[in-house]
Amino acid sequence: MKYAFLGAGKMASAIIQGMLRAKMCGAEDIIAACPDAQMLQGLQDSTAVRVTTSNEKAAKEAPTVLLCVKPQEAATAIEQAGAGLEGKLLISIAAGLTLGTLEKMAPRCRVIRAMPNTPALVGCGATAFATGPNTTGADEVSAEAIFASVGVVSQVQEKLLDAVTGLSGSGPAYIFLIIEALTDGGVSCGLPSILARRLAIQTVLGAAELAKETGEHPAILREMVTSPGGTTAAALGELEQHGVRAAFIQAVQAANRRSKELSGE
Ligand SMILES: NC(=O)c1ccc[n+]([C@@H]2O[C@H](COP(=O)([O-])OP(=O)(O)OC[C@H]3O[C@@H](n4cnc5c(N)ncnc54)[C@H](OP(=O)(O)O)[C@@H]3O)[C@@H](O)[C@H]2O)c1
Repeated sequence: MKYAFLGAGKMASAIIQGMLRAKMCGAEDIIAACPDAQMLQGLQDSTAVRVTTSNEKAAKEAPTVLLCVKPQEAATAIEQAGAGLEGKLLISIAAGLTLGTLEKMAPRCRVIRAMPNTPALVGCGATAFATGPNTTGADEVSAEAIFASVGVVSQVQEKLLDAVTGLSGSGPAYIFLIIEALTDGGVSCGLPSILARRLAIQTVLGAAELAKETGEHPAILREMVTSPGGTTAAALGELEQHGVRAAFIQAVQAANRRSKELSGE
């Protein structure tokens, strides 16, 4: 199977690297296009994929085309791909571009809209995707395999993609804030900042891994480390008093609302 990428930036190169790691195809089966020859050279040096500055040439060569440009560049990139896109599966990761908009921009394509997140850059992404009306079962399998190569993937109805954006799309930023705050807390209690950050990062990673591995409800895991009258109970009391749980719920809701506004709903 051959794949073309329109856009050769951070997300495109993360997905390409994931696909190559997963041995979904060889480097010679991927062709990436963008206007910046220097960027293409960097991608070719690091992955050995084929590159071109012509979107049309790239699209012509593959039955599956991934649209990995900024949302405001999508219309131009698709126009430049021209006849090369005819009859192809077009998978867009451009935030906020709806299936309806994609279908208008590329009427001769079967379209899929995906929402990955930045941990895809290190193979730990969370992606959800929705399919357009003309896609086939094979198209779904193909999208699953592509995004599974950079993390976990779920298929959803398009109407849920704004909520996905609010949770996992914007979510890494919420967790970075937690890491910063935990680090500051550690430093305020006397820890050297490098050690505090190391402990904060590993605590987030370890807690997530434990929740994933055990499959337990987070409330059960939280109770397991909370003895009555102990240190964790004291800390959780502070978090509840400051409305941290409600703040996170409202943060996801705010991002969900903003995502709807940005996609013109
Ligand atoms: N980063 C994230 O966390 C994240 C998460 C979910 C979704 N997304 C979506 O992923 C998409 C890409 O994001 P990114 O972070 O990878 O951006 P990026 O690093 O800026 O990459 C964008 C790429 O598109 C190229 N490009 C611009 N115009 C083009 C055209 N007409 N034809 C072909 N290529 C063109 C750019 O080339 P030049 O440098 O030459 O302009 C660059 O290689 C965005 O739509 C974003 O919404 C990103």
